[in-house]
Amino acid sequence: MQKETILVLAEAGRSIKDVVVNNMENFEEEIEEEFTAEENFSRYLENLDLALEDLNKNILDIGSGSGDFARWAKENGIKSRIESIDPQAKEGIKAVAENIPFKDESFDLIVSVAAIPNIYTGEKESGEKVNLSFSEMERVLRSGGEIRLGNVLIGEKYKSQQKIKESIEEKLMEFEEMGFEVEMIRKPSGDTYEYDEKNNPKEMLAEAYLVIIRKKS
Ligand SMILES: C[S@@+](CC[C@H](N)C(=O)[O-])C[C@H]1O[C@@H](n2cnc3c(N)ncnc32)[C@H](O)[C@@H]1O
Repeated sequence: MQKETILVLAEAGRSIKDVVVNNMENFEEEIEEEFTAEENFSRYLENLDLALEDLNKNILDIGSGSGDFARWAKENGIKSRIESIDPQAKEGIKAVAENIPFKDESFDLIVSVAAIPNIYTGEKESGEKVNLSFSEMERVLRSGGEIRLGNVLIGEKYKSQQKIKESIEEKLMEFEEMGFEVEMIRKPSGDTYEYDEKNNPKEMLAEAYLVIIRKKS
């Protein structure tokens, strides 16, 4: 664990847990508003169950959106290398998960929040894109490394959801057959619902999971 990482949080009078808890308490009220970089950073910690030690790794954020995860870390003294890719990237590298512009075995930790594989919902070729993305993640991950996919939504109501569910299940089974360890952790706070006219949840559309894939050393 790097001294600097602890110092940054300690100097600010807070622990990682405080940052997460404080920001998650306001999460639902502020969902319509724009998040600050710190709130986005803390959402990543929460969604991915990241520990302090993880912030000392070589990290790739796929579908990084605003790029706030890497930016907040850098601006707050976290010394690890965090690269971000997103086809719409304003910060980081413009690239897609299906074609990751890094050499084999470049990262200890690959993360993606609310992006892969959810973004392929509704696309005809979703199965192929999910497969390509997972293969690329596996390629750029070091032995002993981890892939953490936060807020993965699994639903069966719509055909597009069923296709994604099938592709994920198929790919995770393949990972297990190749000797990877796969863990799926339920995260009910990320579940999605259909709402009635009074804005009360009517029906659950998808269950949220944190998916962890570990590559053996
Ligand atoms: C819901 S946003 C999540 C952004 C960020 N991870 C967060 O949690 O704030 C999904 C992101 O996936 C990106 N995306 C879309 N297609 C992608 C692809 N093929 N590969 C990687 N990212 C993609 C979008 O541009 C968007 O920024």
